[in-house]
Order: sequence, then C-alpha cells, then structure tokens
Amino acid sequence: MPRLPIYQQKERLVEAVRCNAFLVVTGETGSGKTTQLPQYLFQAGFWKGGKIGVTQPRRVAAITVAQRVSHEMGFTLGREVGYQVRFDDCTSKDTVIKYMTDGCMLREILADPGLTQYGVVILDEAHERSLNTDVLLGLMKKNHCRGGSHSRSSSLKVIVMSATLETEKLSAFFGRCPVFTIPGRTFPVSEQFCNLIGPKDIDGSGYVKEVVNMVLDVHTSETAGDILVFLTGQSEIERACDMLFKKAEAIDYRYDVRDRTVDGLLILPLYGSMPTDQQRQIFQPPPAGVRKCVVATNIAATSLTISGIRYVVDSGFVKQLAHNSRVGMDVLEIVPISKSEAEQRAGRAGRTSEGKCFRIYGREFWEKYMPDYMVPEIQRTSLTSVILTLKCLGVHDVIRFPYLDAPEERFILSALKQLYQFDAIDRRGHVTELGRQMVQFPLPLGLTRVLLRAAALGCEELMLPIAAMLSVENVFIRPGHPEKQKEAETKHREIASDAGKNNDFTMMLSVFEKCKSSESPSSWCRENWIHWRAVKSAFSVESQLSEILLRIKQQRDFSTEEFEGSQSELFRQCLCSGYFTNVARRSIGKSFCTMDGHGSTVHIHPSSALFGEESQLDWIIFHDVLVTSRMYVRTVCPIRYEWVKDLLPKLHEVDAYELSNVAREEVTEEEVAKWESKEAFKRQMGDQCDSSI
Ligand code: CDP
Ligand code: MG
Repeated sequence: MPRLPIYQQKERLVEAVRCNAFLVVTGETGSGKTTQLPQYLFQAGFWKGGKIGVTQPRRVAAITVAQRVSHEMGFTLGREVGYQVRFDDCTSKDTVIKYMTDGCMLREILADPGLTQYGVVILDEAHERSLNTDVLLGLMKKNHCRGGSHSRSSSLKVIVMSATLETEKLSAFFGRCPVFTIPGRTFPVSEQFCNLIGPKDIDGSGYVKEVVNMVLDVHTSETAGDILVFLTGQSEIERACDMLFKKAEAIDYRYDVRDRTVDGLLILPLYGSMPTDQQRQIFQPPPAGVRKCVVATNIAATSLTISGIRYVVDSGFVKQLAHNSRVGMDVLEIVPISKSEAEQRAGRAGRTSEGKCFRIYGREFWEKYMPDYMVPEIQRTSLTSVILTLKCLGVHDVIRFPYLDAPEERFILSALKQLYQFDAIDRRGHVTELGRQMVQFPLPLGLTRVLLRAAALGCEELMLPIAAMLSVENVFIRPGHPEKQKEAETKHREIASDAGKNNDFTMMLSVFEKCKSSESPSSWCRENWIHWRAVKSAFSVESQLSEILLRIKQQRDFSTEEFEGSQSELFRQCLCSGYFTNVARRSIGKSFCTMDGHGSTVHIHPSSALFGEESQLDWIIFHDVLVTSRMYVRTVCPIRYEWVKDLLPKLHEVDAYELSNVAREEVTEEEVAKWESKEAFKRQMGDQCDSSI
C-alpha cells in the first residue's frame, strides 16, 4: 500500500496537538486524517489523559473506520478501539479510541457535561456541517466542557478536522487557533458536462437511467480503472444496480469493450443502512481484469475513501433533510448539489492517478441550479431536539449561543414553540421534568411524548415496539415484479386484517409481535415479504428503549394514571398525546386538511392500510409526510376529535413575539400573568369555534 500523506507529518502533528487546546486539521480526503491521527495520539500516550473520542456525522463511517483502525492496530473491535452509534454500542471499559456519531457525543455531554472520560475530542468531517457537529462546535467553544461549574483539572484537547473547505472560518471561530494542513498529492481530473438532463429532471428521477447508460459507456470505452457513481438513496441505488446488472450481462467482451484487459464489471451498492459485511467488499480491490463500480450516496464524497477510483459519474443530486414550509415539517428532498460538492465528488477520481469525471448535467444546470455552497443543516432543519439539549445543558439564551452559522431566529422560535407544545419547556423557557425525561430518548419528540404517556398509563408494551419499528428502515418489502408485488400486498393485507383494526401503527405492532412469537422469525419474514434484518434491529431497539424507560420510571417523581375505556381507545389516545401536531380532518373527496395552522391538503399514501378507506374516516393522525406531485401522509391512525380537542389550541397558543422573550432572557411573573389572561381569552374563543365543528 502506498504510504499515506499523513505519515511524514506524524511528529509535527502530535506536537501541534500537544501545544494547542484547539487545533484545526485539514487535508485532502484520503490523506489519513480519520484513520491515522487517533492512532498517533494513542502511540504518543494521550490516552493516559482519557479516551480519544472521534465524532462522525454518519453512522456507517463511524462503524467502518473503527473496524479498519482496530484491524490496523491488531486489536479486536470493541475492545481498545470501538464505536458507538444510535442503538449500537460496540465499546467496552477498555476502549481508548472511540469512534461515534456526533449525536452520540451530544448525548454523552448531557450525561457528563465535563466530558471527564475524555482526553481528546476530535470533531471529524466538520465541513459537512451536520446539525449535531455544528452544535458540538459551539459547545466546545463555549468551553462548556471545562469552564464554569463543570471544571476539570486536566485540559481537554479539541481537534476539528475538515476537508479543505471552511478551514479559515473554523480557525477564526476558535480564536484563530492554528490550522495544520497535511500536504496532499492529487492528480488532475478532467471534467465533462454531458448534458443528458435538464431542469425538468429536478422533480423526477429520470436521471437514474441516464446515469446507468453513462456508466456502461465508461465501462466499454475507457481504459482500466474503477468507477464511482453518485446517486441519492437506497432504493434508487438498488434500482440502478439492478439495471446495471441486466445491461452488463449483455456485454460481449470480445467486441464491445475497448480495453481488452477489462473482462468484467463488479457492481457494488453503498449506502448508510447497508449491512456491514456487505460494506467491507467496497474497500477490497476487484479480481484481476474486473472493473469495480461502486454506486454510492454522498457518503463516498468525503466520509469514506475507496481506492482505485479513476472515473466518477455524478448525477448532480443529493437527498437531504430540509424544513418544508408548505408542510411545516422536515422532509427528505432530492435537490441539486452545490458546486463545491460537485468538485469534491470529481476529486475522488484523482486519488491515485489522473482521472475523469462525467457529469450527466450540462453547463446551464451548473450555472442556474447548483448553488456555490451547501446551506448547513442547522439553517434548514428543525432545531427542536437540539434546542432541548442546549436547554438541558443550561444554555438558556439559545439565540445568542455561539453558532458557527446562526440559524434564522424564526427557526429557533418555532423550535421553542414546539417544545412548549410538547410541555418540554414551560412558559418561561425552562426545561420541565418531562423535558428532562424526553431528552434521554434518541427519538423524535412526538414519539417520545407518546412513549412517556403510555408509560404513565401503564401500556408501554404496546408503544415500545411501535417506536422501535418507526426507528428502523421500512420493514415492508415492495418487490419490483408486478406479480410478486401483488403477492406481497396480499400478505401485508392479511397481517393488517389480523391486527383487527385498520391502522398502520397497530399493523407495525402486529408484525413485531407475530415475528417475535413465531418459531423461526426469519422464515416468517420471508413468507410474509417482511425485511428480517429490519425487524431484528427493531427487536434490539425495543429493548434499549425499554431500558431507558425503566430507568425513568424508577425515578421518584414518575406519576401514573388510570384509564377507563377500551384497549383500542387507550392506544389511540396515547398516540394523540404526541401526534396532535399531525392531525388532519377529511375534507373534499378523499383529501384531508391538516390542523396545524397550515391547512394543507393531504392524501393517504397508497402504502397505508387505510388507503381506499377514506370515505369511512373523519379525523386522523399521521407519522410523516411524503411530498411528490401530491402531499401524502404515511403511517396513519383514525382518531376522535374529542381526544385532540384540548390539545389543538396549544398549537396556536403562543405567538412568536412572546417566545422571542422566552428565548432571550428571564421572564418576569407579570409578563407570564399577562399572557395567561390573553390565553384564557383565546381558549374561550377556541371553544366557541369548536362547537361549530
Ligand atoms: O480521513 P481522510 O479522508 O483523510 O482519510 P482516511 O479515511 O483516514 O483514509 C486513509 C486511507 O485508508 C485511504 O486511502 C482509504 O482508502 C483507506 N481506508 C480503507 O482502506 N478502508 C477503510 N475502511 C478506511 C480507510
Ligand atoms: Mg476522514
């Protein structure tokens, strides 16, 4: 293996860490930052001051890098070198190098604000600007981990690692701390605009076909060297791989391929939720004569380095979470990448020799639709759980927190409003007991609220499986073949009717329970077109959530209540306590109108057990929204109006003006009293409106 650029810098780098509390380290992707620096610090004895923690925005990166490093050091994974991602802890008391997601690090700070177990914290992939990494940057700057009431004797080293972007900004943020640049070798990459898609493709996925054709073109006409393809998500990647397999089979290597040393194509998908054993193949060199083609999400842009790549095929799109103001919530959307991301993708072709990048879009698309830089996640998604975390850490003024790029104030206010609606903070902006319980769950706030309500009513065994099933990938298989699809649908419908009630939440519960109680869960899944791997992880998630819940229930002030009514009512009322923000009422035909103040028109998604039953329904709640040509709601449950009647006014209670005070400073009792009288008035008005419904 050629020596990595970082090797020559070893001593200087270790010295720089020794001399500085904050350090920014930058270098081309693949120079060895993520895998080598923690090992250098380990060898230099930094572990004596505590663990070396390395955060990653993506869970796959945390896992594969930990595997690689434990292997390089000759340790068993989970011992000296380990990883922790949501719902999967592979560490032990001996772990000294710990790779983890940035979300896990935030959670650790909540439990131990001084990070007393750590000697070094490395925030990796800072240029990705993930929401959690941005918050960690702010927390480190605030010196939360050392100063104030959480002081510690030895000093914590903070290293921020980033691809070549944004380093000046990061250094300035940390009081002009030094920037250590690892000199890299890269080879020139020729970039071609192929102009196969245009503006009309922004809303469709027609680009997948074009990407597949482009790959075959490269395979048959270019000299040896592996191909890296950028697409946006799992189902799209699997579809592209299927198409590639079929077309690659038809290639006649005697006539069709220009380079006679190439006599096969090895097609490998790469995305976040892929099983780990499959991921390992990605890094292995292909057999002699075979060209490797990795079809990946944006994960291959910086987080993971695949050697041997000479050709990049770029779709120009990425899937990202963004706040959709039309829907009033965060939605996954496929959007054009930024110009700087496109450059980063192209650069993957020039790691070991000269390379080529084929962009399926044209110059016009580049100029008109691709922004220069990507908007950081903190400026485009819901801040609810982050703000709750900050409040729990004692950061009262969440507007003047040191953000690298501050989110718009209205996003902070809307997060506060949601926290207030869920009773996680009170009118004065202080975290409530419930809020402190909620922050312990690695789940969306609404779902956490449902769990805690269920626990108070003594029916958590119904909700834990559902929360678990909603936390893993979709368990229902939808085969591409029309006949198979029919078969799968029939099986799924059978499960639904066995579940008794037409409602997607009980349907999940039913899958969970049936699978668990069957003699051979994996063959039960195969027979019923259910993803066994997904259900298996749901089992593990369920037991972890149940542990957290048990811990909370054992606390002194956990209060319980009695419930009078049927099991189905109990179940659905619990759901209402967390989903009252997602309520809709039947309007014209098969459409529904949301009750969150947006009044959007939504339809039930065809995958729902309630699809086709719309005429029987009046009020519903839903788990999420899918925006295509229409707005669809998925995972739906029918409810009665009276169950949300008292909760709905809460959605309109506090206006932004009042909350902006809550966000900034301590609020006086008089002000609270003033709002209270205003609200009593509003509530009265609300009741009058209700009687007309
Ligand atoms: O973090 P940075 O992008 O600077 O590089 P790295 O992730 O530390 O990768 C250094 C080298 O290790 C690359 O050449 C990768 O190909 C290789 N690597 C690997 O072969 N398998 C892994 N699971 C991770 C890295
Ligand atoms: Mg890296």
